[in-house]
Amino acid sequence: MKETLSQPLKITKSTTTKINSVDFENINFGKLFTDHMFACHYVNGTWQQPEIVPYQPITLDPSARVFHYGQAVFEGLKAYKDSKGDTFLFRADENLKRINKSAERLAMPEFPEEYFNKGLSELLKLDNDWIKQGKGNSLYIRPFIIATEASLMASEANQYTFYIICSPAQSYYGGEVDVLISDYYSRSASGGIGYAKAAGNYAGQFYPTNLAKEKGYQQIIWTDSSSHKYVEEAGTMNIFFRINDTLLTAPTSERILDGITRKSIIALAEKEGYNIEVRDIEVTEIIEALKNGTLKEAFGAGTAAVVSVIKGIGYKDNKYSVPVLSDGFAQHFKQSLTNIQYNEAEDTFGWRTKVC
Ligand code: COI
Repeated sequence: MKETLSQPLKITKSTTTKINSVDFENINFGKLFTDHMFACHYVNGTWQQPEIVPYQPITLDPSARVFHYGQAVFEGLKAYKDSKGDTFLFRADENLKRINKSAERLAMPEFPEEYFNKGLSELLKLDNDWIKQGKGNSLYIRPFIIATEASLMASEANQYTFYIICSPAQSYYGGEVDVLISDYYSRSASGGIGYAKAAGNYAGQFYPTNLAKEKGYQQIIWTDSSSHKYVEEAGTMNIFFRINDTLLTAPTSERILDGITRKSIIALAEKEGYNIEVRDIEVTEIIEALKNGTLKEAFGAGTAAVVSVIKGIGYKDNKYSVPVLSDGFAQHFKQSLTNIQYNEAEDTFGWRTKVC
């Protein structure tokens, strides 16, 4: 990217803090935000000098294109604190790469690496007290880009803003989940925007997910849109199955999000000598394995939840139980991953970056 910082990052500190009113033992995901946010505007074909400002509402013209044509992409990553009080990011470079890939697909400008790295680390230094020690505590970081230009023309905007907001987090889903395999609704289609972390991909999930909830499920296992024969993702996460001692996950594609937790689990599994297959997974294969008892585990993987254990799978009118193992693959990979994230294990992959 051509833009570079021409001066130290401009920081306007908040004169007050909300932190003293926060019950850090009882955090609801994504409801509460730190004292500052990062913002950078794109005008006249260039990202302007970014700044950190007190967390505040944003004012947009009602005709801003984000409201009408959904030009919005986002990311999710976390910062972690170790027992010494040092703060770390996990594979943040991958989040930048992915938001820029998402932006390209939605005809939005890429965001400069230097702005992202500097903005994020300064923001984490400033709001560092919001990151609590202890496994399970983290700061969920939400970078996003929206089309701010006022115009109802149905074409890409000429003005955007890139923001980063941060929210203290504990776990995302409470406990194990029941998921319904979709045989009608789709999350994405070939040639579409499924691989992008685009806001609309999530909006499109809410209605079918509500229908699944009415049937007693919390999430949907998305299948390919043309035949509904192949498993793709689970809810807002990638999905893994364990059949006997083989770990299975679907390959990423233009329809499937290239999850950072997913690829970290694959890398760990390969390094640790697990038998892992990244290949198309037929729904019938999973149902068969559920019926004959060879399906030993299933779990979703994503930044917010890390690993979300699946205890039941529904397909058409049948519901099958999935074993929940206290010492299974799901627990193992969650533990290995969080040990690296919280600086409790050696990071042979170079995934962890110390911020402060
Ligand atoms: C993630 O876990 O990576 C997500 O994107 C979840 C988010 C939609 C809350």
